[in-house]
Amino acid sequence: MFLWGTALSANQSEGGFEDKGIGVIDMLPSGKTRFQVMKDPTLHEEEECYFPSRKGIDFYHTYQEDIQWLAEMGINSLRLSISWSRLFPTGLEAEPSKAGVRFYDCLFEELEKYRIEPIVTMNHFDTPYYLAEHYNGWESRVTLEAFETYSAFIITRYSRFVKYWIPINEINMALHLPFVGAGLIQQSNSASIYQAIHHLLVANAQVTKFAHEAGNNKIGCMLAAGNTYPATPNPEDVFACLTDDRQSLMFSDVQLRGAYPKYYITKLEAEGINLNIVNGDLEVIKKNTADFIAISYYNSKMSQSKKSGIEQTAGNVFSSLKNPYLKTTEWGWQIDPIGLRITLNTLYDRYEKPIMIVENGLGAKDQIVDGKITDEYRIDFLKEHIFQMEQARQDGVEILGYLTWSGLDIISASTGEMEKRYGFIFVDLDNEGNGSNKRIRKASYYWYQQFLKGKFSS
Ligand code: BG6
Repeated sequence: MFLWGTALSANQSEGGFEDKGIGVIDMLPSGKTRFQVMKDPTLHEEEECYFPSRKGIDFYHTYQEDIQWLAEMGINSLRLSISWSRLFPTGLEAEPSKAGVRFYDCLFEELEKYRIEPIVTMNHFDTPYYLAEHYNGWESRVTLEAFETYSAFIITRYSRFVKYWIPINEINMALHLPFVGAGLIQQSNSASIYQAIHHLLVANAQVTKFAHEAGNNKIGCMLAAGNTYPATPNPEDVFACLTDDRQSLMFSDVQLRGAYPKYYITKLEAEGINLNIVNGDLEVIKKNTADFIAISYYNSKMSQSKKSGIEQTAGNVFSSLKNPYLKTTEWGWQIDPIGLRITLNTLYDRYEKPIMIVENGLGAKDQIVDGKITDEYRIDFLKEHIFQMEQARQDGVEILGYLTWSGLDIISASTGEMEKRYGFIFVDLDNEGNGSNKRIRKASYYWYQQFLKGKFSS
């Protein structure tokens, strides 16, 4: 069965901070300082900041109604994440929190009631802050071991509801935003980042081993994806693209081919980095490759070998040179539906593993006019991307599902804004968390509902 659905993450939706430990993203304030703190968490100031992920959209308390609305829209699958720090507040507890377990028990039962298949991310920017503060996050094997305990617990308890698991959201994020992706507070030397990446990759393999031994679980490696185009046909620019794309593909190469690729080993040697690899690490990576590739896709990128006058623009995780053939969103992300087809084909050619699109959507400032939200731009965006995904399927790419980002409006991960809205369901909160928190169905909700009706009746 093809998965048609939508997605959200715990840290951007749940709130319910009274019942959880602090995750790394809970330390990111809203407003202008957010990005600076994200880059350098030692800059963070507690006083008078609003930390949006601590409030989310209160999904912790509203999940029943929210799931009912999503079910009425007609989805057969919902990607969500379990908050590590809700179950193990510091990451080091021997037993999970009772309140946390109760919440996820109820959440999965609720989804089952509507026959919505959960696709579960285990760590969506949610490494317990305690591990970041005391062990520099994933640089330490303590974090790796803590994750083993946590992941074993959730697989054992929830695999009766869940088949598809994604251990680490956008694992390639660790290279670019090491605090958010890998809980690194001290990140001034790149050796810490590479060591953390090694532990993330070992974790993925260990989870795969455990999950396969435990039953019919499928494990996905997830990339923030989107191919890079050369700014010109100059072979030097083409090579620059290849090098840029390898920064992400390294992660999937390890997780799907079972070994570090030569180009990465060479790069580490050139930088004088010696990874601390303990006995058994490379073996577990080799023997436990992932079952599928999960991708988030928002934009393609463009780069070149030498700096020129081409303007830069923003994008998911990576900024990019501005491609003159593409329009951008209000946040400068380049809209490129054909890029989705290119990305899917590239990944499938390389690995021949099924791909699941677990995030794709448009962040926009929606307006309520006469009680209605007419987000035709979002409908167009989704239609064009779905069309290109279907083209990729015809090209022969094996695709497991298409899950939009996001079901409801939630906190933006990069900016912390509420007004960067992706949902089919509007949530009445502003960037400071003020508002009624009321939900309103957008035009895109009714469009997706009709679209899914057509899919499931045919
Ligand atoms: C992905 C993340 O990077 O992009 C999501 O997995 C995030 O958590 C999404 O929300 C969109 O990014 P943003 O910054 O616009 O919320």
